[in-house]
Amino acid sequence: MILLKILLFASAYNGMCQRIHKELEAEMHSISIELSSNEQQMLRAVDDFQPDLILCPFLKHAVPEKIWRHHLCLIVHPGIEGDRGPSSLDWAIASKTNNWGATLLQADAEMDAGDIWDTQTFHVRNTAKASIYRREVIATAVHMIKNVLHHSLNNVDFKPRPLDYSKPSVTGEYLPLMRQESRKINWEIDSAEIITRKINAADSFPGVLDTIAGNEVYLFGARPEYSLHSSTPGEILGHRDGAICRATIDGNVWIRQLKMAPQGERKFFKLPALHVITKQFPNAHLFENLRALNSRLQNDIKIETQNAVAYVTFDFYNGAMNTEQCQNLLSRLRELRERNDIRVIALMGGEDFWSNGIHLNCIQASVDPARESWRNINAIDDIVQELITMTNKVTVAALRNNAGAGGAIMPLACDKIFAREGVVLNPHYATMGLFGSEYWTYLLPRRVGDAKAKELTESCLPLLTTQAYKFGMVDKVLLEDWNTYHQLLQRECEALADDVNYFALLSRKQYTRMKDEAIRPLEAYRQDELQHMKTIFDNPHSEYHHLRYNFVYKISCNQTPARLVYRKEEEKMAQTA
Ligand code: COA
Repeated sequence: MILLKILLFASAYNGMCQRIHKELEAEMHSISIELSSNEQQMLRAVDDFQPDLILCPFLKHAVPEKIWRHHLCLIVHPGIEGDRGPSSLDWAIASKTNNWGATLLQADAEMDAGDIWDTQTFHVRNTAKASIYRREVIATAVHMIKNVLHHSLNNVDFKPRPLDYSKPSVTGEYLPLMRQESRKINWEIDSAEIITRKINAADSFPGVLDTIAGNEVYLFGARPEYSLHSSTPGEILGHRDGAICRATIDGNVWIRQLKMAPQGERKFFKLPALHVITKQFPNAHLFENLRALNSRLQNDIKIETQNAVAYVTFDFYNGAMNTEQCQNLLSRLRELRERNDIRVIALMGGEDFWSNGIHLNCIQASVDPARESWRNINAIDDIVQELITMTNKVTVAALRNNAGAGGAIMPLACDKIFAREGVVLNPHYATMGLFGSEYWTYLLPRRVGDAKAKELTESCLPLLTTQAYKFGMVDKVLLEDWNTYHQLLQRECEALADDVNYFALLSRKQYTRMKDEAIRPLEAYRQDELQHMKTIFDNPHSEYHHLRYNFVYKISCNQTPARLVYRKEEEKMAQTA
């Protein structure tokens, strides 16, 4: 295979862009990234890097003609062949499509109408748009890009085909931007299933605009529920795990997150729904006595036990863990610690993320963000401490989804890390202006050594689990296919529970813990990390407060970080290596 200089144009260094960056780098291509939408900057990036190929994994704007006329530019489009427009997945979900796809097409004068290099389909799960994007679209895009690089570019006979709507196989069409009128919920007519679908089609962006008690809000994170007593459609019945339960004509629907619509200059960001109605609504008093409900469906922390293994799912929206969520998870882990029928505890994370560390939105929304940051970091540290000191069980981090910051350190507290192929880890804090905690100063060097720990935390770059495996940060990489991963994981966990050396393993774990404690007490690591964190939290001018503000309000500096731009010195080093 020829090794290429590949320039990535992207509107954000998001999960898709991170994965493609790392996958291509792993195949020894040289990668540079440009995040700006400014034509001059894009042209400069091309001039500086002189790429053989330009790839656009996630681009919300058009590629300038001056670029695509002279360079091969391939665009990942989250739709089937012939599909065009900015709301592909939204329309696919709204129309209950069973099969959807992704297409790799060439940039051309008309948006999404260029020649087709590859197109592949997948089954559409009944879930949120962002979840399908993160799992199916990304996996399909990676597959197509690798295919094209392996076969098409090396094969002189390969010719991309023009988009031809007269072919029966081309079933996509141009669909416009989906506006709020098409997303609107009619509570008098729409069933719980329809409302969920409408919210799914708009999740994580832009959400469905609705009105609650006279307040305009965007709805996110829907789950239908049929077991609770119904009342007037739209009415709020109660809450659980920060979500609110609203009545529908045929049952109920849980809404996990809300975002207040802008009020003049004042902008808002996503928060747990209960927080918004009880803290942000001017008429919050209406919800003072809202009931706490029990529900099997709206239950962020689920524990399933089978053959002496407890699988703990903590499905927190966006993988962000606020203080109360951490406390709840900790108490569930403590219960499991006492159970004699459990030998192995597998931490599964959520459906879309494993964990992204402390909850920056909840911190931003609190009355005292410095204090809330402190509470949150201590609460997550308590979980990590519980895992490190859980010497009567074998613990497994089932890294089946991406993890970032403290959420990428937490798995290291487990005895074994079984990751899913394609998962991207961001084990660093500096991009949020933080020193970091979660016992990273103990856990990371213990796993990967001092030099690698320094490199990972200072370079602030993502890594694939296959790369993490090479230097011992992950114990096993299991296949990416969701069902296969779970089958293999179960086999691994049951093998651990069944292992004739199970008690020897626990003895070794206890011994290592005692030895480590004698060298440096766990508490010393925590105090040292937290001292750094406290200095940052308590300084109102620290970078962290500014970066967190920009993060939650999605304020972009519209500049590509230097770490993503290919440097000439690296090229020279690669040539001499
Ligand atoms: N707190 C609150 N929300 C968070 C979050 C956190 N710690 N981490 C991610 N999110 C949210 C994002 O705001 C985004 O929200 P959206 O639904 O409005 O789009 C969503 O999760 C997905 O995140 P995104 O950044 O789009 O995903 P990604 O795959 O492109 O990038 C990370 C993943 C982890 C690199 C990135 O989200 C990140 O830097 N998060 C902050 C991690 C952090 O600093 N945590 C605190 C220190 S422990």
